[in-house]
Amino acid sequence: MYKQIGILTGGGDAPGLNAAIRAIVRTAIGEFGMKCIGIEGSFEGILGSTHTVKLTTKSVSGILPRGGTILGTRNRGSFAQMVDGKTIYPVMPIGEALANLDILGIEALIVLGGEGTLGIAEQFHKRGFPIIGVPKTIDNDLAATELTFGFMTAIDIATEALDRLHTTAASHDRVMILEVMGRNTGWIALHAGLAGSADLILIPEIPFCFESILKKVQARERSGSRFTNVVVAEGAVEVGKSPIYQDPDAIRLGGVGGYVSRRIQEMTGKETRCVVLGHLQRGGSPNAFDRMLGTNLGSCAVRALVNGEVGKMVGLQAGEIVTVPLSEACTNLKSVPVDGQLVRTARDIGISFAAPKEARLGEDSMYEIRTNGA
Ligand code: F6P
Repeated sequence: MYKQIGILTGGGDAPGLNAAIRAIVRTAIGEFGMKCIGIEGSFEGILGSTHTVKLTTKSVSGILPRGGTILGTRNRGSFAQMVDGKTIYPVMPIGEALANLDILGIEALIVLGGEGTLGIAEQFHKRGFPIIGVPKTIDNDLAATELTFGFMTAIDIATEALDRLHTTAASHDRVMILEVMGRNTGWIALHAGLAGSADLILIPEIPFCFESILKKVQARERSGSRFTNVVVAEGAVEVGKSPIYQDPDAIRLGGVGGYVSRRIQEMTGKETRCVVLGHLQRGGSPNAFDRMLGTNLGSCAVRALVNGEVGKMVGLQAGEIVTVPLSEACTNLKSVPVDGQLVRTARDIGISFAAPKEARLGEDSMYEIRTNGA
């Protein structure tokens, strides 16, 4: 049994992180009599002069509904950097971190993060340090777990935004574009688009063409609906083109909503507006589901550690908490299946993904796309 464990959060924050931290502390102290040290500012907190805080059941009291992470986080630093839109891992200062963990009396680590953070955790595991991962990300793009906490809250926020855009779009007969996050996957766009009754959903997994977008807008006009709501995932790509980044170093995705908006206005002559939802999707209080999932994963991570399941990540599969090797968790990303049931349902109820095939077919031939995929 470990006497003292460390807890850290890495990568972008996600609603539910504090719920998970609280569950880890309560389980570790209450059930197993351990001590808990919070490492501040992600892995950077165990470098140099180190930044840590003692965590007790009292100090985590009241944090369950709070957004962000009480420990602070980073999505780049000494352990991981972004080059050309990809995370790269330079020579990590693991030796220094391990020496500091020894000085601090931290015998094992529970690391809460997405693919990048779990990749760093795996390096600690390879050096023989006991470590367990807990998955979080609003993007829901980790293959080793069906859901990550943060995702459901992000969908709620994006859905509410769509509901609000709906009424103003209808009042002004406009095309409204909502750009949402999700990195190179379209999970947030797809789920929020379905829940918020979008007419078009553009996701990275199904490259779009403007001919199909035009066709959908015009079809709506003909049927008497003089407004159109579009959800665009930040990583959505036009056929034959690359994703659009906010900065020249290709670090942060963003801008595709504005691009689509300008082109639609040019093509249709209709007034078109774009809203970028951005970090509103990550900030603020987690919804009930994410509080529950964060709590469950956090508590199970402690139990897994005690059971000797080191080098693993806790995840959700078929409604049960399971453990999977970190190597699997950080290398396999989960994309929206283009012929999956949710995409089919969206098409069945008349939502367009603006695939080139949709432009070629008559309106009453959509069935062909629904049954043959993108
Ligand atoms: O991975 C979570 C996420 O919010 C992505 O959806 C988004 O692309 C990225 O992080 C934004 O990162 P930053 O907080 O550095 O702008």
